[in-house]
Amino acid sequence: MSDNGRVTGQPPAPDDLTVQDSPSVPDDPTAALNPRLPSPLQEVEDERFARHGLRLLLKRDDLIHPRLVGNKWRKLAPNLRAAAGRPLLTFGGAYSNHLRATAAAGHLLGLPTIGVVRGQELADRPLNPSLARCTADGMRLHFVDRSTYRHKSDPATLAAVLRAADAQDAYVVPEGGSNALAVRGCQDLGAELRGRADVAALACGTGGTLAGLAAGLASDQRALGIPVLKGGFLDEEIRKLQDRTFGGPRGNWSLDDRFHFGGYARTSAELDAFADDFETRHSLPVEHLYVAKLLYGLVALAAEGAFPPGTTVAAVITGRPFPEHTA
Ligand SMILES: Cc1ncc(COP(=O)(O)O)c(C=O)c1O
Repeated sequence: MSDNGRVTGQPPAPDDLTVQDSPSVPDDPTAALNPRLPSPLQEVEDERFARHGLRLLLKRDDLIHPRLVGNKWRKLAPNLRAAAGRPLLTFGGAYSNHLRATAAAGHLLGLPTIGVVRGQELADRPLNPSLARCTADGMRLHFVDRSTYRHKSDPATLAAVLRAADAQDAYVVPEGGSNALAVRGCQDLGAELRGRADVAALACGTGGTLAGLAAGLASDQRALGIPVLKGGFLDEEIRKLQDRTFGGPRGNWSLDDRFHFGGYARTSAELDAFADDFETRHSLPVEHLYVAKLLYGLVALAAEGAFPPGTTVAAVITGRPFPEHTA
């Protein structure tokens, strides 16, 4: 990759394929945060793709904003507009990227934020670096037991959590940020990739980003999701998200369930070595929970001959490692 692949290389470089301008919305509080939209699209030379006649592009959503990184920007920005200044309450595990991004958004926009954290037992322990970052950004943490957390979408349980957190006036964003507004926000990601790639690939947690991405692509493009959780429930979830958002299925998309490495946050020496190697080859800071599994999956699929020669694959870089480091 050229110099433009480094996170510090903000000015557009020659291989930055970005061409469009970002639309502006009147009274949009997020506009003041100067997101880099559309995000850069960069071609990388990688013989593991080239030898099969494939082009690999990196869709650098990790460069949209230094604190609201990747799909977090796309999902949170529409919700921040809808919150219209109300406190934001959301949910996450102890290492949630989404909680950190919500806290950062609150800090940047002067909005109170409340994070409902899975695991009552954590309340009595020192905060891990991820939760410490949330509180440094002003997020108030409210710990709940795992059973309550599991039932947080039931109206009665949610109402009880809001009462206990003294947050009845809050604007509630679901775990992972994947509501209908977020899915619509991710549609822009698809729109930015129209005409630029045959396949747009990304790692999936809740599936919200894929649901929107697929809807934004043109009819001759397809989205490929690599779930990082084990369980095979995601097809159904994505269908539900598209139903709720658009009233029915949208776009061409599929999932390949073979690259979760045992489940969320599970890894192996092979995956870690792969991620380190990719980072060195392409000067790309590789986020390990999601992005490493995506890139590993794409290299494996290229080797299997899953993409016909002549295919251009865009890998969406949905996040950055935490704690931050420069490759
Ligand atoms: C870096 C990164 N990539 C991808 C995802 C998956 O997004 P989604 O939950 O919309 O599938 C997440 C979700 O938290 C993430 O943090």
